[in-house]
Amino acid sequence: MTLQEITLEQLNTTEFIAQQVEAISTAVGDELAINALSGGVDSSTVTLLGHKALGERVLTVFVENGIMRKGEPQRVVEHFKALGVPVQLVDAREDFFAALKGLTDPEEKREAITQTFYKTVFGELVRKCGAKFLLHGTILTDVDETVAGIKRQHNILTQQVIEPLLQLRKPAVRAVAKALGLSEDVYDRMPFPGPALAARIIGEVTPERSEIVREATAIVEEELADTDAFQYLAILHQDKVTGMRDGKRDYGLQIEVRCWESEDARTGSPTRLPFDTLERLADRITDEVPGVVSVTYNITKKPPSTIEAI
Ligand code: XMP
Repeated sequence: MTLQEITLEQLNTTEFIAQQVEAISTAVGDELAINALSGGVDSSTVTLLGHKALGERVLTVFVENGIMRKGEPQRVVEHFKALGVPVQLVDAREDFFAALKGLTDPEEKREAITQTFYKTVFGELVRKCGAKFLLHGTILTDVDETVAGIKRQHNILTQQVIEPLLQLRKPAVRAVAKALGLSEDVYDRMPFPGPALAARIIGEVTPERSEIVREATAIVEEELADTDAFQYLAILHQDKVTGMRDGKRDYGLQIEVRCWESEDARTGSPTRLPFDTLERLADRITDEVPGVVSVTYNITKKPPSTIEAI
């Protein structure tokens, strides 16, 4: 069966929301449903649709995996609380760091994150809460990428999966999100990868290394918020380099900053940031992030670079 896309031009958000709320409500009946919220636009939209349809019969969980951005778990939970949607914050940092321990290969790291999420943490929550239905924010682009072998969908649990956004692509999801009352922060959010900050840590992902890239990311996001770049980020390198601190040689860490111009993330080119901005980034990152002695800016196009580091 091929899925019929609902384009942004064809979309009537009021009608779409009413139809999906009705469909979720009919499918779930008197049973319970669960969904995982990441704070991204897709899972945020599904959370609100699910809540409208089911109220307290949907359990929304946010899994804190230790590789989120600074303050993100609390920010997301607060945002939904203000919209009247309770979100259960699950602290699974230990599980994720235990699974990531000793891993340096990018694919093994991604796999460890996926498996920990579905098998250990979310899988356990689903079993415990007795939900028969799983609400999932799969969009049409995910389906295309799965068919093309770029992305894998994780059909892990025995629950029935409800995917209200299956006929939409990102611009249409953003329109639905906006119509549902989500803030611009959410419906116009910069892309952020599924493996979170682990996509920006070259080498082992430990609590300490995550904290370093988290702090550097916060500075980059603050300093570059006024650019209209597609995406900007900080990467922690594995190799150390010699630097100078307090008049002494200091063997320290390297952070790489990337800032992208792109339409759809398939190709990209580096933003021509003013040198003053780059200098401010270097000063702040070396002053505020412990152990960093070197900051570089990536000037490579995608391809051959990618947007993230792993
Ligand atoms: P790359 O690094 O492949 O990234 O040039 C292209 C876009 O996709 C995002 N990205 C991911 N998103 N899971 C995701 O959901 C992932 O594993 C992943 N890896 C990269 C990236 O942030 C960029 O916008």
